[in-house]
Amino acid sequence: MTMLQIDSLSKHFTLHLRGGLELPVLKQVSLEVQAGECVALLGASGQGKSTLMKCLYGSYGADSGAIWFDASAGRIDIAQATPQQMLALRRKDIAYVSQFLRAVPRVPALDVVAERWLQARPELDADEAQDEAREEVRRLFARLHLPESLWDLPPATFSGGEQQRVNIARGFIEPARLLLLDEPTASLDAANRRVVIELIHQARAAGTAIVGIFHDEEVRDAVASRCVPVH
Ligand SMILES: Nc1ncnc2c1ncn2[C@@H]1O[C@H](COP(=O)(O)OP(=O)(O)O)[C@@H](O)[C@H]1O
Ligand SMILES: [Mg+2]
Repeated sequence: MTMLQIDSLSKHFTLHLRGGLELPVLKQVSLEVQAGECVALLGASGQGKSTLMKCLYGSYGADSGAIWFDASAGRIDIAQATPQQMLALRRKDIAYVSQFLRAVPRVPALDVVAERWLQARPELDADEAQDEAREEVRRLFARLHLPESLWDLPPATFSGGEQQRVNIARGFIEPARLLLLDEPTASLDAANRRVVIELIHQARAAGTAIVGIFHDEEVRDAVASRCVPVH
């Protein structure tokens, strides 16, 4: 089943500090991703891989082209979606593990992740379901070897690798239809890289379509069903 169909997507940036110079980044990118597939984006630094991911997440608009996505509520063109539609998609259908965690200050790591689990279940009473959500998160944190002493602390002061694991937990706690992974293992040790590889295999088996950037070739070989150059 085709989960994502990108048709001739183009995007440029205007560099205002350089006299309005136009920098074309995505030039008619087309790509189809099936449910259960993991497509690895290839290309040197600066080729537009992260920009493409941000277009798929609706953070950037496009100049032209379409991003057809098979959302749970029906097919939608992400390139044309309203901010409200995009927020609804992010609540359940699309997960994004970015290179950097942008956590809300003062929210404990457990709740940063539990929030996503709860958001995907609007039918539950958030207060009543809180314990169950936290229990799910504790299991995943333990699997990712995140020290238990950190679980109740806000991630702002965590190390890069610890923040990345909170980010990964948030991306995987709830199976999404589309999962975007931007360098998910960049700051992880070998044991945790293996956990992420397992999590990706599980997500694929559950039918998630994955688009990822993996500089680590070993990880890429282990998870990708296909590699696609971005240029
Ligand atoms: N918000 C932005 N404004 C202006 N230029 C940008 C912006 N984001 C990225 N770029 C430029 O677009 C190009 C592609 O960037 P990026 O998508 O981050 O590449 P990659 O992830 O492949 O390394 C780079 O030349 C980068 O400098
Ligand atoms: Mg990048």
